[in-house]
Amino acid sequence: MDTTFALEMEGITKTFPGVKALDEVTLRVKPGTVHALMGENGAGKSTLMKCLFGIYQEDRGIIKLKGKEHRFKDSHDALNQGVSMIHQELSNVPERSVAENLYLGREPLNKIGLIDHKKMNDETRSLLENLEINVKPEVRIGSLSISMQQTCEIAKAVSYNASVVVMDEPTSSLTDNEVQHLFKIINRLREQNVAVIYISHKMEEIFTIADEVSVMRDGQMIGTYDVTEMTNEKLISLMVGRDATLRFPEFKSKVGEVLLKVENLSSPNPRSFQDVSFEVHRGEILGIGGLVGAQRTELMEAIFGVRAIREGKIYVDGDEILNMTPRKAIEHGIGMITEDRRGSGIFPLMDISNNTSIASLKEYLNKLHLLKHKEMKEESVRYNKALRTKTPTMETLIQNLSGGNQQKVIISRWLMTLPDVLIMDEPTRGIDVGAKYEIYQIMGQLVEQGKAIIMVSSEMPELIGMSHRVMVLCSGKCTGVLDKSECTQENIMRLATKFM
Ligand SMILES: Nc1ncnc2c1ncn2[C@@H]1O[C@H](COP(=O)(O)OP(=O)(O)OP(=O)(O)O)[C@@H](O)[C@H]1O
Ligand SMILES: [Mg+2]
Repeated sequence: MDTTFALEMEGITKTFPGVKALDEVTLRVKPGTVHALMGENGAGKSTLMKCLFGIYQEDRGIIKLKGKEHRFKDSHDALNQGVSMIHQELSNVPERSVAENLYLGREPLNKIGLIDHKKMNDETRSLLENLEINVKPEVRIGSLSISMQQTCEIAKAVSYNASVVVMDEPTSSLTDNEVQHLFKIINRLREQNVAVIYISHKMEEIFTIADEVSVMRDGQMIGTYDVTEMTNEKLISLMVGRDATLRFPEFKSKVGEVLLKVENLSSPNPRSFQDVSFEVHRGEILGIGGLVGAQRTELMEAIFGVRAIREGKIYVDGDEILNMTPRKAIEHGIGMITEDRRGSGIFPLMDISNNTSIASLKEYLNKLHLLKHKEMKEESVRYNKALRTKTPTMETLIQNLSGGNQQKVIISRWLMTLPDVLIMDEPTRGIDVGAKYEIYQIMGQLVEQGKAIIMVSSEMPELIGMSHRVMVLCSGKCTGVLDKSECTQENIMRLATKFM
């Protein structure tokens, strides 16, 4: 048996201004295994992988591939040496085709030195077919759904035939079927003796796919364990450094009158949502279930006025709102935390404090229409503290935070606007277990104060654990509304797949 490690990282240290992101971290990964890397938001997982991939230069430490020491100048160099990576953030060029994205920087050339588009498209087609990914090489990648774009990134990482493949939260916008598909691809890589490093906040995934798990906390490596000797509780307490389990908080809200009502809402696009009606009451959390492609996000965007509607009515507090726009929505007390928080929610060059307060400026004007900076900042601090946003200071630029911590800032932003109706699209995606509970707690407090929440979620436990009722969509149509007592995984799945 080959006992050489596919990858060894020893004593890796990396400091950013004000943060020791990695402190003497050691990680050893065997070939032909799936090695999970876990830890809370900001623990240092992505930074460690970016050091491996040549994006960051470590201050100290050694990296070895198959026992041989390497130091990668940049990611191009890393790819050449057999390390490839799927990034936490989508990194494609939206205007280019799928094939152009897959071959970016290594386009096949023809005899006279021009890009050989036919060859590129043919090779992409056979790669995609081989991986059973159903998309044409010629389509513009930006026109695909986020989940299909992510699937293309997976194909890209695999296409390098690397000996170490890093996947940084690859499933964050995939649902069940696509995750199963990814796992098939991962299993194939494992059989080909590839070492796969797998970062995810989803516990079930770790137990399904990983052989070993390494846990990081506050820039340090806590240890490496066999998944077979690991339990959910043990893993969580290693990550958060105290005893903890994922639970749902108790909250006692009084469900009152209707706050938001939607009647026969239809999209101009016949393949999107059609004829959807529902209402949400004060003090209520309405869950929205369904699979990717069920048009849940599209429906929410229409209610928030980002998307046009062909037909239908939206009432807030009994008044019909015509021609909804986001501005009108906010004026009428509707807030929306989007699914793609990093893409649509962040002002990268502004600090955390300003990123948090930007949607509430109006609430902080004094009589002279001057901003009450101090109070505004205190509130920003309060929300970020509640969600435990990990940052050196409130003046740190948001782009320097870890992925999960950026999301916490965006969530703080919308909580701070104190909306009467808060739409939350996948509120805990990419959020670590500790902070998930904090978010659930804040949701509970909001409905106890008589607010209403609409929560789109692909996580069954969350949907079932938090909602008073769950409305399920399938192919743009409402297939049923379940009361708390009927909210089981089976019932939701049955409705979510009704037209399939
Ligand atoms: N370019 C940067 N400049 C300054 N600080 C940074 C930079 N990149 C990362 N950090 C800091 O390093 C620490 C580790 O961040 P990292 O992105 O590695 O966390 P993570 O474990 O991947 O978290 P998540 O689960 O949220 O993605 C954080 O405190 C983060 O703010
Ligand atoms: Mg990360």
